Amino acid sequence: MENFKWLNTSILITVLGTITPLSAIAEDIESVKAKCGMCHGPDGNSPNSSIPSIAGMTKEFFAHTMDAYQNNGRPSDLMKPYVHYLSQEDISQLAEFYAKQTFKPVKQEYDPARAKKGEALHNKYCEKCHENAGKITENNFGFLAGQWMPYLRQSIQDYLDKKRRVNPMMITKLEKLQQEAGKDGLDDVLHYYASLQ
Ligand code: HEC
Ligand code: HEC
Repeated sequence: MENFKWLNTSILITVLGTITPLSAIAEDIESVKAKCGMCHGPDGNSPNSSIPSIAGMTKEFFAHTMDAYQNNGRPSDLMKPYVHYLSQEDISQLAEFYAKQTFKPVKQEYDPARAKKGEALHNKYCEKCHENAGKITENNFGFLAGQWMPYLRQSIQDYLDKKRRVNPMMITKLEKLQQEAGKDGLDDVLHYYASLQ
């Protein structure tokens, strides 16, 4: 299938039109990127608070998330139509591209007092796996520092609702944190991540 990408689309439709749904036709990687950019920003720094920034994501975590979206490890009505037809080659080219972009911590509002409480909770329950509060570059578990707060809030809810696949130890820690500090405690942690600009 890989070589089809370089063929003219209209020829492809003629050849495959009767047997292949349109969305399954391999697309030029630049046009795929442009679609991703509509939501995630052209360089992967998202302008929208419910959509994560992905600039500078490690290739490993990128490939891991694509696998989750393609294989029912992570539900997302918004992402699914754009990723379900990507080939392994597409994914590795996209991973390469986003890994080279520079993550820009989001300028967003936060409450300094809550951020301070959140820092202590993060160090107690999360830092072990999310080193340096999930600062960019080497981390393979997603961005926390500087990521959009509304997106992170939604992600955490998805984990608690068991909609998103993850190391069970993380769920345990989220639950323990909630037992100690309530729902507000979880949000304090998000204020801490937002404060790391
Ligand atoms: C219509 C908007 C939209 C488009 C187009 C889109 N995405 Fe997304 N993307 C989202 C949303 C919303 C999420 C968060 C979904 C969730 O909670 O799992 C997301 C999540 C992601 C994540 C996971 C980020 C993380 O921190 O875990 C990656 C990686 C990603 N998208 C890459 C892509 C790529 C590559 C494309 C193009 C092939 C693309 N997206 C197209 C909206 C979009
Ligand atoms: C045992 C290790 C571990 C611990 C402890 C842990 N996490 Fe995670 N976390 C992970 C892994 C692994 C992922 C990536 C999972 C995936 O693929 O969705 C992750 C992903 C996340 C994400 C999604 C990031 C993104 O953009 O996709 C958030 C938010 C998060 N963790 C918050 C927390 C918080 C808050 C705590 C502390 C209460 C915590 N984690 C403790 C292992 C851990």
